[in-house]
Amino acid sequence: MKIEPLRWRGDALELLDQRRLPEQMVYLRCASAEAVAAAIRDMVVRGAPAIGCAAAFGVVLGRGAESAYEALAKSRPTAVNLFWALERMRGARDLEAEAIALLAEDIATNRAIGAHGAALIPEGARILTHCNAGALATAGYGTALGVVRAAHEAGRRISVIASETRPYLQGARLTTWELQQENIPATLITDGMAGHLMSRGEIDLVIVGADRIAANGDVANKIGTYTLAVLARRHELPFYVAAPVSTFDPNIPDGSLIPIEERHAEEVTGFRGARWAPPGIAVRNPAFDVTPAELVSAIVCEKGIVPRPDAAGLRALLRS
Ligand code: MRU
Repeated sequence: MKIEPLRWRGDALELLDQRRLPEQMVYLRCASAEAVAAAIRDMVVRGAPAIGCAAAFGVVLGRGAESAYEALAKSRPTAVNLFWALERMRGARDLEAEAIALLAEDIATNRAIGAHGAALIPEGARILTHCNAGALATAGYGTALGVVRAAHEAGRRISVIASETRPYLQGARLTTWELQQENIPATLITDGMAGHLMSRGEIDLVIVGADRIAANGDVANKIGTYTLAVLARRHELPFYVAAPVSTFDPNIPDGSLIPIEERHAEEVTGFRGARWAPPGIAVRNPAFDVTPAELVSAIVCEKGIVPRPDAAGLRALLRS
């Protein structure tokens, strides 16, 4: 089964409602820019490249009105793909054709990332990934999971350890589901178990996606990514980041300047109506963290692999 997170119908964008996975596969129909902006804000569609694609169709539905751009730009702050897509739409003559092209290019880009990245995955690798950087987070195929898919397609015997990704459970609900669809062996763990498995020699490498990569190679990704990068360094394991060029933000010199979204306290105090924390407790809920470039073994993008990323390496890549 092909996973299709976004479907363009000519007069509406249908989004696979990721809030209801894996129990239900239902599409939500968005017929206006405001409806698309709300769907991005409410996590119907999530993952940096998928958010960018959805926003492009939001502009189409809003007929390119300034109010449409404004509503979409306010939906989520961290993934730069959203702003990249809006910028690209501003320069387009035919909005619908541009959005359709952007969607198709994203899949091609992910396949290229997969083809480059598969070289980093040895036979038998036990791969830890965090959050969901798969087909669901993109137009299809995925970035970090695209690399996993490509290695699997190449016939390598690999297995994936998916961390659950508190508090929104993208790993537990989405990554596990995607891997099951493709019969790629997968094991679910809670976020706190990663260090233990590394210390026992049960993980060979870590690969994650990104929401924004600063000019110096610092990487913003789902909260908990930084912890995994520190653990990977402690255990001398490679820590890879897979992301398209549309996730690079050369205007931000380093990760400290990347805007980090804070989400509702309710995501931490409970889930889907269940509540486990006492009323009135103070809560922090940053949705992303920043992994310093020095902890990143390599960044894989559609143009190739940048080992030990830094400002010079990324500048050269973007010029190539
Ligand atoms: O809050 P989310 O689910 O949108 O966060 C998603 C991530 O952090 C992904 O790792 C990132 O967007 C890369 S997706 C290819």
